[in-house]
Amino acid sequence: MTTKIIQLDPNSFADEQLSEAGELIRDGQLVAFSTETVYGLGANALDSAACDAVFEAKMRPHDNPLIVHVLSPADFSQYAHTENQPLLSELARRFMPGPLTVVLPKKDIIPDAVTVGLSTVALRCPSHPVARALIRVSGCPIAAPSANLSGRPSPTAASHVSEDMDGRIPMILDGGEAEVGLESTVISLNGDEIRLLRPGFITVEDLKTVTDQVVISPAVLSALEQGVRPESPGMKYRHYAPKSPVTMVFGEENSVLAFFCKKLREGCGILCFDEDVSALKKLGFEKNVISFGSRSDLLSQASGLFDALRRFDTVSVPHIYTRETSRDELGLAISNRLLRACAFNCIEV
Ligand code: TXA
Ligand code: MG
Repeated sequence: MTTKIIQLDPNSFADEQLSEAGELIRDGQLVAFSTETVYGLGANALDSAACDAVFEAKMRPHDNPLIVHVLSPADFSQYAHTENQPLLSELARRFMPGPLTVVLPKKDIIPDAVTVGLSTVALRCPSHPVARALIRVSGCPIAAPSANLSGRPSPTAASHVSEDMDGRIPMILDGGEAEVGLESTVISLNGDEIRLLRPGFITVEDLKTVTDQVVISPAVLSALEQGVRPESPGMKYRHYAPKSPVTMVFGEENSVLAFFCKKLREGCGILCFDEDVSALKKLGFEKNVISFGSRSDLLSQASGLFDALRRFDTVSVPHIYTRETSRDELGLAISNRLLRACAFNCIEV
């Protein structure tokens, strides 16, 4: 199969440019598309066979459910039971459309192929014009995981989608680089309580403006214990992994830099901040050092992380060492993705 790439200026395109994409979706085929978080791999969410094909194209484990994308939170009630959810309308008013996904009790119209048999469905209204146009032109809700091969870093550019999906899907809608660069915040609701299942651009601090009862699932920052049933199936997989193993290094500033130098001499890779790149350069190290953003700029870290992880696949290193980052606000999402890339392997130096 050849993969057709359609370039779209997200600020100025016509729905007609997506008419072929809409036909593909209605025909049960897959289309990768821009969202504000990461690229998605879309299928008609009401078509079981199309959703099965998503799992196949991504080589995704068959117990990890898909997020369903719709145009407006007003559409949620077609697919989920939204009654008795006292927080939902305020969450919708504050954060939708945007990078927030809510897990709700599903209605029968959503096939098991989407939810892998769970009684809940994850719903999200993307804000990106290309994602919205694809939903509009297709005329159906779009089930879409991130458009990477399972286990690989999520794609933040169409070129990343091509790396993983070329020849596996008929079309990529290239609406430019993803603004946020990390996947949506995923929450479930329990009366007046919000449970954070996956941190993202909508932060705990943001959610606390809606209710003070925000519980962070323990799996956000630590490995699930053997035999514990995950609140969200995605929690149990190693994610975002480059080909070489990654370890997070904790310690005093000077000890960490000295450790990085030692590992660079051994031929390892260092995934670090812009500031470390300058410091290591002064010490004579440049090769195998890749930055994911500035230490003081969480937005730059979020948008740079997955690209930096992918860039390590173009260099051959036996091991990658990285740093811890702030866990405040957007830092929680960055730490969560980094820790998962490390499969929670951390060392103190
Ligand atoms: O930003 C995003 O959310 C992107 C774009 C494309 O919208 N999508 C995305 O999908 O990240 P995916 O499949 O890579 O991640 C979906 C996560 C998984 O961790 C999955 O386990 C969880 O959402 N999830 C989906 N349905 C769920 C459910 N019913 N209950 C609990 N977790 C669910
Ligand atoms: Mg994913």
